Amino acid sequence: MIVKQIIEVVRECGQILVHADRTQAGTQIKHGQSNNLVTQYDKAVQEILRKKLLDIVPQAHFVGEEEDVHESIAMGDAFIVDPIDGTTNFVKDYKCSAISVAMTHDGIQEIGVVYQPYLDELFYAQRGKGAFCNGIPIHVSDKPLNQGLTLFGSASYYTELTDESFRLLRLCFDRSMDIRRSGSAAVDLCTIAAGRAELYFELRLQPWDYAAGALIVQEAGGTVTRVEGGDIDLTKPCSVLAVGTGVDIEFLRTET
Ligand code: IPD
Ligand code: CA
Repeated sequence: MIVKQIIEVVRECGQILVHADRTQAGTQIKHGQSNNLVTQYDKAVQEILRKKLLDIVPQAHFVGEEEDVHESIAMGDAFIVDPIDGTTNFVKDYKCSAISVAMTHDGIQEIGVVYQPYLDELFYAQRGKGAFCNGIPIHVSDKPLNQGLTLFGSASYYTELTDESFRLLRLCFDRSMDIRRSGSAAVDLCTIAAGRAELYFELRLQPWDYAAGALIVQEAGGTVTRVEGGDIDLTKPCSVLAVGTGVDIEFLRTET
């Protein structure tokens, strides 16, 4: 079964992160942004994923975070891969990073796998077949926001979005029990899927950050849209809002 083979590959890569010698990480900045990092481990894990995932589905396109030109995922099978989601956490030894692999068919996610190796938590979903953490079915929370937690991503590579991010965060903070910021969008989405928090938003993410996690949330019974409304897009960057079943998101779209 393809999903089992993908899980095996992703788990294997997780061990590389856990046992990494971070003194040899070779950290570099990307796109001239001092907070946007890439390490030798991001590149090495991506290459292992490329080889092993394409051994499983040889005809698939491969889209990975750490390459400049991306293949189209619109037709046929494709893998959308983030070798380390939470690279800054990895560099800081914060122990909250994940490997994220989505498999799509004709541009729609069919399989999502996210592994947080420091907690040994393996989340996966297959379209129409539910979502699981370490083999146990998971479901989103049904609590309203005033009994819930807000997770947010600061979209820190896009400073033009900072004011709006924090404005929305304040709206959520005022309506939630509290807020959290993990440093990995993939982990945040799985946290919503597992019913550990009620709302997650970030104003700009790349498809590899959310392709797998979004399917996991949806298969756990949650809703994933863009913050401003409308479906998320796997072909280009977009905002992401994920909620459990008890959250009324109207305030995010109407409050000025
Ligand atoms: C980042 C993380 C972070 C989110 C950023 C992402 P990276 O991914 O998911 O939580 O706030 O927008 O780019 O760069 O660590 O792979
Ligand atoms: Ca990422």
